[in-house]
Amino acid sequence: MIVTTKKLFEHAYGKYAIGAYNINNAEQIIGLFKGNIKSQSPFIIQISKGARSYTSKIMLEGLIRSADQMFPEAIFAVHLDHGDEQTCYDCIESGFYSSVMIDASSLSFDENVATTKRVVDAAHAKGIVVEAELGQLGGVEEHVSVSDADAKLTDPDSVKEFVSRTNVDSLAVAIGTSHGAFKFTGSQSLHFDVLAEIQNRVPGFPLVMHGSSSVPQDEVARINAAGGNLQGAKGVDDNQFKRAAQLGVTKINIDTDGRLVWTRVHREYFLEHPENFDLRPIGKVFMEEYANFIAAKNEKLGSAGQL
Ligand code: G3H
Ligand code: 13P
Ligand code: NA
Ligand code: ZN
Repeated sequence: MIVTTKKLFEHAYGKYAIGAYNINNAEQIIGLFKGNIKSQSPFIIQISKGARSYTSKIMLEGLIRSADQMFPEAIFAVHLDHGDEQTCYDCIESGFYSSVMIDASSLSFDENVATTKRVVDAAHAKGIVVEAELGQLGGVEEHVSVSDADAKLTDPDSVKEFVSRTNVDSLAVAIGTSHGAFKFTGSQSLHFDVLAEIQNRVPGFPLVMHGSSSVPQDEVARINAAGGNLQGAKGVDDNQFKRAAQLGVTKINIDTDGRLVWTRVHREYFLEHPENFDLRPIGKVFMEEYANFIAAKNEKLGSAGQL
């Protein structure tokens, strides 16, 4: 059943975080639903602009509606990840998305406020909730490229003003994470001091952590041993998730780790089965492994058993 993130966040706040997982195809969607049911977790299915153009937004919507029918016990929100303003409006109009993210974090504070507010007004008129971003993560996103040197942590002093001027429903904050498989050229811990200060300014308000894949070193080693080249890949320690949840983080975004599962499974399989050219045997292995990965991640988030 599709619900709004508002409902999920109210239940989770201060106790656990909801996993927000990016999907692009049928195998990921099936694995995602199976994994969340296995761990009895509510979840957020997130769709990026790139995902919407990969097979097509129409097909993705069809696949997710089908999964909703196939797995009637699933409780989830459908979320646009890193939307620009036009893509937000398209999702709001579609009637399918329960929440959208407007990412105007690369703009000035006032322009970020103005852009976010326009999207919030359009979304709220249709009962859809909005995530915005304040501060800048390192790493590379689809339409914004931020070098590590420019990564700016969220300024706690600006958070309350941003929230009250925009009326946004949740806020992605930069507290030391970054997108992709190569995070942390410098310090490797989350900035809990900054997060605590942010929570202090907006108590009870749902915060979001992007760029939170843990890039497991055993996964990286297996990929490299099977012909990959991901030297130096590094991620966030997911043992920090529950502490972040206590400080108001209610949504944690994970994409890269799922891509690593896909890469490892396929590289190992084709190395071991050079004669194979049927996509289904390996597709089945991937769906199974992806479901296991989701269930294990939900234990780290504290969302396991919360359905
Ligand atoms: O933060 C971006 C997400 O990982 C989605 O990636 O834009 O390549 O689909 P994508
Ligand atoms: P990762 O690259 O760490 O998985 O982050 C994903 C994300 O933030 C999607 O919005
Ligand atoms: Na998002
Ligand atoms: Zn992100």
